[in-house]
Order: sequence, then structure tokens, then C-alpha cells
Amino acid sequence: MAKKILVATEKPFAREAVDGIARIVEDAGFEFALLEKYGSKQELLDAVATASGLIVRSDIIDKEVIAAAPELKVIVRAGAGYDNIDLEAATAAGICVENTPGQNSNAVAELVFGMLVMAVRNMFDGTSGSELKEKSLGIHAFGQVGRNVARIAKGFGMEVSALDPYCPDQVMVEAGVAPVKSVDDLYSQNKFVSLHIPATDETRKSVGYDLMMKLPHGGVLINTARKEVIDEEGLARALDERPDLKYVADVKPANADELSERFAGRVFFTPKKMGAQTSEANINAGLAAARQAAAFLTDGTDRFRVNK
Ligand code: 3PG
Repeated sequence: MAKKILVATEKPFAREAVDGIARIVEDAGFEFALLEKYGSKQELLDAVATASGLIVRSDIIDKEVIAAAPELKVIVRAGAGYDNIDLEAATAAGICVENTPGQNSNAVAELVFGMLVMAVRNMFDGTSGSELKEKSLGIHAFGQVGRNVARIAKGFGMEVSALDPYCPDQVMVEAGVAPVKSVDDLYSQNKFVSLHIPATDETRKSVGYDLMMKLPHGGVLINTARKEVIDEEGLARALDERPDLKYVADVKPANADELSERFAGRVFFTPKKMGAQTSEANINAGLAAARQAAAFLTDGTDRFRVNK
């Protein structure tokens, strides 16, 4: 019997992406299975029981899911951030975990500007807002999304700088971006800051009161990274003390209702993570994930492996 590759996505891919994934999986000689919009964890646990390959998005793949999948050899996160997968449990079970870096980064970068324009036009409330041209944008982490943000910002005529200790200055300079050396400088020198750090032990709750308070007058923080990197209490305190500040995020913080009520017109949250929710990004990331899962099960190719 052919090995099974399961796509398990609570937030479904576009139909064209699903069709393309199915084609790749079947052409490679595997069985294709699909679990979309599942309402309970049990449905996921049941579906993974016979899967050798698993393709997911932000779906939580914890110890329990891994224990329920005795056949599983490879998990591909169709996207960039893999903080939703318990890497330790996967490694202990001998499962390869991969992501698909860069495949959905333009979609996320475009959303940054959708939300930033909305913020500077006062959430389209009919009052006079401001423009992005000649304003300063700081990019917090210069990976694939950050680089796309820089490219688009240049089109708006913005002054762009970035902080990323893991990225050589030369890469920024070639992109017309000024390298910044400290997080304090990034926040104090830029009216707008766009967050692109992953959620790790080091970054969780790392952006809060102190950094928000450093933003110049009229500052906007745009978060299309992860809600976990924000210290939500500190954010609320800064918004309270500085009525000129705004926060726009993909996706909702835990205290979204409180923030929306207290700071109406100055905060905006997408109801679901929308950054990578375009048909182009779904096709790019979904098809790449399908190719990677099939390749791993065929001959062990693991170029985008993220665990040991
Ligand atoms: C990513 O890490 O690639 C993005 O956050 C997209 O997540 P999603 O696939 O759940 O939309």
C-alpha cells in the first residue's frame, strides 16, 4: 500500500493549492489525504494515525499529535515559522521537520503595507491622515519577509533601516537599507517599525513598554510576526501613556478585546492570521511543501530540515 501524505490545515489553503499538492503527492506515488477546518484536536489525532508525511500551516503539532502518528517520518510546515511544532518530540520520534522559507514572504510583506496605510489614514475613519513617503521605517529582523518589506518601502519613497545581528550589513546596504546596531536605536530612530522576529525563547515578550515608548511621536508598530513576541501588558501601558501611538497586528493578541475597547481607532487586529493567506502564497508554500515531503519519503532529501 502506498504511503500517505496528509495535509492538515485548520485554516485551509486556496483550492488551486490543494489541487496542486494532491497532484504532486500522487505523481510521486503516494496517497493524498486532506483534513481541513477541523473543529477538534481529536480529528487531527485520528487523521495522523496512518500518515507517513504531514503538511501543516500554523497547526499545533505537539507531543500528543506526534505520539498519535507512529508511521510519521516527515512534517513540512508550509511557511516560515515552525514554533507550532514540538521539535524535541519530533526529533525524539525520528521525524524530520522542514519549513518552506521565503515561499509566502511577499504576501506577508504586502500585508504590512495594507495595515500601515490603514494606520496612518486613521483606520479610514474619514479624518485627515498622513503619507508614507519620506517617513522612516525600521525593519526588526532582515530575513525573507523583512527584505520584501524593504523592497516595497522603497517604492513608497520611505527611508529604510533594519536591525538583524544574523544578517551581514552588506546585504542591507545592497538593498538600500541602513544597518542599525541596537534595538533601542531601531525604535527611537524610526516612526514606523515592522516586526519580523521569530517566536523563540529569546524573543518571547521582548517587545513591550520600553521599546514602544522609544518610538517618535505618531509611531506605529506593525506586527505580522507572532503575538508571542509582544509583552501585551507593556504594550497596553505604552498605548495608555502615549495617545499618539498605534499598534496594528496580524494576529490578535490575547488582550485584543481590552485593547480594542481602550484604544479604539489606534489598534487593529486581523481575526485570523492573514499574512500568508493569498492564493499565490498558498500555491508557493503548499506546492513546495508537497515536493519536500515527497522527496524526503522517496530518497531522504532534507535540504530545509530545521531539526537535528
Ligand atoms: C509563516 O510563519 O509562514 C506565517 O506566519 C504564515 O502562517 P500560516 O500558514 O498559518 O498563515
